[in-house]
Amino acid sequence: MTINDTFNRPLRDLRISVMDQCNLRCTYCMPKEVFGADYAFLPPEKLLTFDEVARLVQIFSSLGVKKIRMTGGEPLLRKNLPQLVRRIFNIEGIEDIAMTTNGILLGTYAKQLKEAGLNRINVSLDSLEPLIYGKMNGRNFPVARVLDSIDQAASTGLHIKINMVVQRGVNDGDIVPLAKYCFEKGYTLRFIEFMDVGNTNGWNMEKVVPSKEILDLLQEVMPLEPVDPDYIGEVAKRYRYIGTNKEVGFISSITESFCSTCNRARISADGKLFTCLFATQGTDLVSLIRSRKLKDEVLTQFISNVWNNRDDRYSDQRAKLSKEPSKKKIEMSYIGG
Ligand code: GTP
Ligand code: 5AD
Ligand code: SF4
Ligand code: SF4
Repeated sequence: MTINDTFNRPLRDLRISVMDQCNLRCTYCMPKEVFGADYAFLPPEKLLTFDEVARLVQIFSSLGVKKIRMTGGEPLLRKNLPQLVRRIFNIEGIEDIAMTTNGILLGTYAKQLKEAGLNRINVSLDSLEPLIYGKMNGRNFPVARVLDSIDQAASTGLHIKINMVVQRGVNDGDIVPLAKYCFEKGYTLRFIEFMDVGNTNGWNMEKVVPSKEILDLLQEVMPLEPVDPDYIGEVAKRYRYIGTNKEVGFISSITESFCSTCNRARISADGKLFTCLFATQGTDLVSLIRSRKLKDEVLTQFISNVWNNRDDRYSDQRAKLSKEPSKKKIEMSYIGG
C-alpha cells in the first residue's frame, strides 16, 4: 500500500528516535550551555517501549514504509538496542534498517547490531583534528577513540557512511583531509550544510559552507563525477571519485532543498509523529496507544490521515518561515535529524 501527502509524496522512510539524551554536546546540535546538568530530558517511562516501537513499525510498514532508521540523541544509549533491531528485522515489508550514531559506543555494540539485522551505520564525525573534534563535540572526546570504534564496526561488515557538518571558520579546513581519510578507509563521506534546526545552535548563513563550494574545493584535489540517485527522495547528491567505485555525498538543505521528494516521517522518543524535521508540532501517538488503546486498524487510519494532510516543505520556504520566530521548532536531538 502507498499513501501520499498533499504534494503527492509517498510515505517510505521512518526515522525513530529511541533516546533523547546524548553523550556528546555538539555545538551545532546540543550546545552545553543549553543542554546542561539541569536540562529536563525525558523520564524513562515516557520513552516508547520496544513493544510500542515494534507495533508502530508494523503499522507504518503496512502503509508503505520500507526503510527504518534509528536515531537519537544517541541511539546506543538506549539499553538493549540490538533486541529492538532484531524485532524490527522480523517485521514484514522492512527492507533496510540503519542507524545514525556518534560512534562512541560502536566498538561495544557493532557486532551485536549486525547480528540482529542492522545493515548500515551513519556516523557523525566533523574533524580528524583532536582539538577541533574535541571542541565541536563539546566534551573533548578524543577523535582517536571514535575512529577506532568506526573501524571495529566496519570489520563486522556494516556499511559505513560518515556525516560531516561543515561550519565556516570551524572545520572547513578538514574537508580535504577527511575526504582522503574516508577514501582510504572505504567509508562514504557526506558533507552536510549546517542547518537552522532547533532554536539554540546559533545558526546564521555566514556559518554555512555551500555544497558547491565544497565540491569545487574537493574537485581540485580528487576529481569527481556525478552519480544518478539510487531512488527518488535520496537526501544526498552523490559523486564518484573518477576511475573508482568510491563516492562522496552532499546534503544541501540550505542551498538546494530537497522537499519536493521528501518521503520521511519521524517519531520522537516519546512517541510523537512529526512530518518535517523543522516542525513546530507533532501528533501524539502515545496517548492513542496508552490511554485510548486504539486498535491497529484505527491507529493505521489515523496515521494515514496525518500523512494525507501533510504539506510541510520548510527548506523550500526557509526564507519566509525562518522569519516566524514565535513558533518554536523542535530540537534536533529530540527528533534525531
Ligand atoms: P541515508 O539513508 O544513508 O541516505 O540516510 P540519511 O542521510 O537520510 O540520514 P542521516 O541521519 O545520516 O542524515 C544526514 C543528514 O541529513 C542530517 O543532517 C539530517 O538531519 C539530514 N536530513 C535527513 N533527512 C532530512 C530531511 O528530510 N530534511 C532535511 N532538511 N535534512 C535531512
Ligand atoms: N545541521 C546539520 N546537520 C546536523 N546534525 C546535527 N545537527 C545538525 C545541524 N544543525 C547532523 C549530525 C548527525 C545527523 C543526524 O544530523 O551530525 O550526523
Ligand atoms: Fe549528540 Fe549527534 Fe547531537 Fe552530536 S549531533 S550532540 S552526537 S545527537
Ligand atoms: Fe522533508 Fe521538512 Fe526536510 Fe523538507 S525540510 S526535506 S519537508 S523534513
